[in-house]
Amino acid sequence: MTTHASGGLGIHATGLTKSYGDLCVLDGIDLSVPRGSVLALLGPNGAGKTTTVRILATLTAADAGTVRVAGYDTVTERSRVRELIALTGQFAAVDELQTGTETLRMMGRLAGLSPRAARTRADELLTRFGLTEAAGRTAKTYSGGMRRRLDLAASLVSRPEVVFLDEPTSGLDPRSRQDLWELVRELRADGATVLLTTQYLEEADRLADRVAVLSGGRIAAEGTPAELKSRVAGHRLDLTLTTGTAYEALAPRAVHLDPDALTLGLPTDGTAAHVRALLDELDPDRTAVDRFAVRSATLDDVFLTLTGADR
Ligand SMILES: Nc1ncnc2c1ncn2[C@@H]1O[C@H](COP(=O)(O)OP(=O)(O)OP(=O)(O)O)[C@@H](O)[C@H]1O
Ligand SMILES: [Mg+2]
Repeated sequence: MTTHASGGLGIHATGLTKSYGDLCVLDGIDLSVPRGSVLALLGPNGAGKTTTVRILATLTAADAGTVRVAGYDTVTERSRVRELIALTGQFAAVDELQTGTETLRMMGRLAGLSPRAARTRADELLTRFGLTEAAGRTAKTYSGGMRRRLDLAASLVSRPEVVFLDEPTSGLDPRSRQDLWELVRELRADGATVLLTTQYLEEADRLADRVAVLSGGRIAAEGTPAELKSRVAGHRLDLTLTTGTAYEALAPRAVHLDPDALTLGLPTDGTAAHVRALLDELDPDRTAVDRFAVRSATLDDVFLTLTGADR
């Protein structure tokens, strides 16, 4: 990838709104993704992640707001934007009757490559996505994970500047997920801007330069994974209680609840002094707490705190 303009924003959206009938899905969201960086868009089911991706990728019109992708306006310069982006949807869309090789060569030709260049590019991508052995078979015979990989490979044939990945690792086995993470890192190293949506907080933590949490039609929080984690107390004291009664007594103060295990979590700064004081205060008779553990806040904590899903 040699043609990326330096500096600036790969994606810049302001004031995006979108409703379906009475349902307000996006209620004025702003997003800025610097070129050559990765943004993870998180949110519970139905939060509007796919809607956002579709608007940014010119497939759905927003009701209001402006979007520039790779420096171009997605409405007035839509065809230019389409030349510079790749989109892999939440559900893999591949032609079942074509082989992997045929699909990738065809995409290469559509992207304007010569037959020879399209062949070379197809072979490169088949190797990179571990599809060389399956290359001569029709996609009908592929597993779900293989289809996803082929779909993704097809979207990268033209070396896009901005890549949209909507839940790229859903349905992939752990090995394929690792491979995809590696691929996202490579895209970023090549200078591409990547926006991915994910339900896996670990994925956002590992891959993303910045994370935006979509909730209630708005960006509920935005920052580096470390910044977001620091917003939720830093650490959590997990207590496993000896009885249901003890559990119920402490539950109202908890930021994390696991009734089946009689375990709940309380915010702490993680210092021994604070943990000791909390234990003394919560369990003066030293009978209620069976076990305890102090752990760093995770993006899960941030996510659940911000979206209220933990309550
Ligand atoms: N074409 C449409 N017509 C009507 N409602 C729609 C349409 N597309 C999306 N919605 C609604 O908009 C809301 C947001 O959907 P969206 O697919 O963007 O969520 P999401 O965050 O991608 O969810 P998921 O995690 O399940 O993929 C949902 O309530 C959905 O039912
Ligand atoms: Mg979705």
